[in-house]
Amino acid sequence: MSNQNVHRVLITGVGGFIGSALAKFCSSQNETIGTIHSTDAPEESVLGQILRLDVRDSGQVCEAISRYSPTTIIHCAAFNGIIPCARNPDLAIEVNVHGTENIARAAEKVGAKLVYLSTDIVFNGGKGNYSEDDLPDPICTYGKTKLEAEEVVKSVCSIYIVGRVALVYGINRYRKRFTEQVIESLQRGDKIQLFSDEYRSQIYLPVLCNTLVELATGDLNGTYHLCGNDSISRLEFGLELARVFGLNPNLIMPTTSADFQSDEKRPLNCSMTNGKLRRDLKTEMPSLREALKELHQEYQRIS
Ligand SMILES: NC(=O)c1ccc[n+]([C@@H]2O[C@H](COP(=O)([O-])OP(=O)(O)OC[C@H]3O[C@@H](n4cnc5c(N)ncnc54)[C@H](OP(=O)(O)O)[C@@H]3O)[C@@H](O)[C@H]2O)c1
Repeated sequence: MSNQNVHRVLITGVGGFIGSALAKFCSSQNETIGTIHSTDAPEESVLGQILRLDVRDSGQVCEAISRYSPTTIIHCAAFNGIIPCARNPDLAIEVNVHGTENIARAAEKVGAKLVYLSTDIVFNGGKGNYSEDDLPDPICTYGKTKLEAEEVVKSVCSIYIVGRVALVYGINRYRKRFTEQVIESLQRGDKIQLFSDEYRSQIYLPVLCNTLVELATGDLNGTYHLCGNDSISRLEFGLELARVFGLNPNLIMPTTSADFQSDEKRPLNCSMTNGKLRRDLKTEMPSLREALKELHQEYQRIS
């Protein structure tokens, strides 16, 4: 790939749910290098170069990024999730804050653009429909560490994107998540409980990958909300998924986050708006129904 328009992209966390799908997508258009941690990259990974890297190790990070000198880094590696971060806050700070700082400093040193994946959980969930102008106010450890990392990125990097990602749905055979868990439970005829009071603006995995590559390889700078058009609860999402997949919606039972025993607070309505994204990017944002139909076709293709 010697074309001048081909970017040299380094993606951290290509063993993860988003990183592994993104690596596949990005490498079809750009020279792409990936980093893994304890889990290997998918067997079918198309990346030419994959290196093992612990983002907490500043020396290792600096050496790897200087050696490969990427034009852009998409930082997907993280210690993820509300409950895991509440159970291990020190690790959450080390990976999410210090790890991101190591990546940001190394990116700045080689003059690379940094695309940092943050989360809608940086908001307190009190009002929903958050735009980029709303002030974050996280109420859980996960959100607090992700916001602290956002601030590090903004203070260290000259060229950056802070992409606040909404809940992601899609199929990743290598790292099964919410979508496949719902489909497989309904296919088995198992009853499932889904929150009726937690609202998010779910985004479809292939659309997120497209968006991230466009942000990584374009001239945009700043904070963007990476989310779909619809603000819906997990319950409504599950019911819509069941409808499109022809599965039994009566197996889905509503529950509320108050019924879920946990010491960690969960923000209720972290839905976000995507007007800025739609204004500045070419990537089209499908409706939930359109995306689920595409997902169904993809599911049938690979099943
Ligand atoms: N998935 C979503 O719905 C969602 C929603 C909002 C925001 N996000 C954000 O999007 C990003 C990617 O999420 P994801 O769902 O793909 O997460 P994931 O599946 O948990 O992947 C995270 C990756 O980070 C790696 N990692 C963990 N600790 C590391 C370390 N010390 N050094 C290097 N790598 C390390 C993990 O590797 P090992 O497993 O090998 O340790 C894993 O491959 C995260 O920043 C997350 O906060 C995701």
